[in-house]
Amino acid sequence: MSDSANLAVLTICGSLRRGSYNAALARALPALAPRDMTITAAPSFSGFPLYNADLQASDGFPDDVMALGAAVREADGVIFVSPEYNFSIPGALKNAIDWISRLEDQPLRNKPVALQSASPSPLGGARMQYHLRQVMVFVEAITFTRPEIFVMGAPGKFGEDGALTDETTRELVAKQLAVFGDFIRRVGAT
Ligand code: FNR
Repeated sequence: MSDSANLAVLTICGSLRRGSYNAALARALPALAPRDMTITAAPSFSGFPLYNADLQASDGFPDDVMALGAAVREADGVIFVSPEYNFSIPGALKNAIDWISRLEDQPLRNKPVALQSASPSPLGGARMQYHLRQVMVFVEAITFTRPEIFVMGAPGKFGEDGALTDETTRELVAKQLAVFGDFIRRVGAT
């Protein structure tokens, strides 16, 4: 754990889209975090090649894979903030997880992980979250459960500047961050 007074939490956004609702949600988190939690965005995975074990064997791990792995390893907790694509995890995010899962000292092992999603749809990306939970089982992350954050009807919940304006959502997100902080203190640093 980074230091007992402050928790360092990393956000990994599953959307590469300019104007992404999920990126906007991730950007809203620092202001909603409890005082003893610092939230920063992970280094980008947008340049990761498609995972191929032959490539890993011939060239090793790309620098940006190493950078994401190091950032996850150093964090006290990780929050995935991701859209749902075709009822599941966006391919680019799954590819990023596949890459870092092959690193030595696998960064997600024993890592407290929380999930959030935003979508225009009424389910708010829930199906993606349950697939991501399954992936977190294999990498031996310690996945936080409640409260869950599904930002449904996303276009109505953010302003034109991308600010999260919906007060009910802001309160629930702040609640999740506070309870996730307690969870990290309880289960982290194993
Ligand atoms: C989507 N979208 C979507 N939404 C959803 O709730 N369930 C789904 O299964 C899908 N499937 C899907 C597939 C693909 C390939 C795309 C591009 C989109 C819609 C998606 O939620 C919407 O585009 C969000 O705005 C994407 O998130 P960001 O980029 O705004 O963060």
